[in-house]
Amino acid sequence: MSRVAEDWYESAGVRSRPRRTLAEEREAGLAVFPAQLVPHLAHPAVAELGTDARAALLAQHFYQYMYFTTHLETRVVNRGTALIAHGQVDFTLDPRARLDAFKIYCDEGYHALFSLDLVQQVEKSLGIPALPYDFAPRLARLERTAETFLPGHGSLGQLLQVVAFETVVTRFLAQIPRDQGVFRVVREAVDDHVRDEVHHHAYFVKFFKELWAALSPALRRRVACAMPHFVNDCLRPDLAPVRAALRSVGLPAGTTADVLADCYREDVLAATVREAGRHTLGLCETVGAFDHPEAREQLHLLGLA
Ligand SMILES: [Fe+2]
Ligand SMILES: [Fe+2]
Repeated sequence: MSRVAEDWYESAGVRSRPRRTLAEEREAGLAVFPAQLVPHLAHPAVAELGTDARAALLAQHFYQYMYFTTHLETRVVNRGTALIAHGQVDFTLDPRARLDAFKIYCDEGYHALFSLDLVQQVEKSLGIPALPYDFAPRLARLERTAETFLPGHGSLGQLLQVVAFETVVTRFLAQIPRDQGVFRVVREAVDDHVRDEVHHHAYFVKFFKELWAALSPALRRRVACAMPHFVNDCLRPDLAPVRAALRSVGLPAGTTADVLADCYREDVLAATVREAGRHTLGLCETVGAFDHPEAREQLHLLGLA
C-alpha cells in the first residue's frame, strides 16, 4: 500500500495552505461559480429571468455544491476511511496504510471545514442566503445499493462507496482553478482540494485492488454488480435542490418541471455518469469485475456500458 504522499506533513492542504478568505476588491467583475457548469442557467425560461434571479441561481448552485462536499466528506468518505484507519477490513493492511487513512481523514475534515467556511463568506458578501440542503436522499440511495447487493456486509458497502467517490474523476472540478472568470477565493479553495484528491485517488485505486484480491468468488460477483450502482449513486446529480432553487426565484412549478426535463435528460445524465465514472469502471474492469455477466448486465441497465 503506497503512502498518501511521502510529504503529507509538509504538503497537505490542511498542513500547508492558508485559510482562503474572500476580499471583495479581489472579486470585482467575477462570478462565484462557472455559469457553464450550471445546466439550467442556459434554458430559455431561465435566461428570461432578470439578472438578480440568475445571480441567485448561480449562488445557490455554488452553495449546493459546497454543502454536498461537506456532507460527502464527513458522512460517506470519512465513515469508510475511519474503518480503514482502525484496521476494520477483511484483509491484512500495511500499518502505514492505516496511518495514511487518518491523513485522508484529516484532509477530508478540512475540505468540509473550508467548504462551509466559503459558503458563509459568500453568503455574507453577496447577500444571498443559502437554501437548506438535504443530503439524506443521496445517503439513502447509497444505502439502498449496499442493501440490495451486499446484504449483511455493511462495512464492505461503506468501503466501496468511498472507493467510488474517491476514484471518479470530476473533471469539471479541475477546470475551476483555471477559470479566470471565477472568484479567486473559490479557485484557490478548489485548487487546494484537487491537489489533495490526486493522492486520495491513487490510495483508493490500490486499496480497491487489495480488497478485491482478498474477496471470495461469491463476494466478488456481488461487489462487481454493486460498483456500477455506487458510481451512479455518487455522480448522478440531485434534482431536488435544483428544483428548490428554481422555485425560490419565482419560477412556476410547471415551468420548473419543464426546465428540469429539458436540462437533465436521462441520456445526458447517463453520458455524464459514464464519462466521470470511466476511471472507476475501468478499475473494476482491470480486476476482471465485468467478466461476470450479471455485472455487465448492471452496467447496461444503468446505461454505463
Ligand atoms: Fe476531499
Ligand atoms: Fe478525498
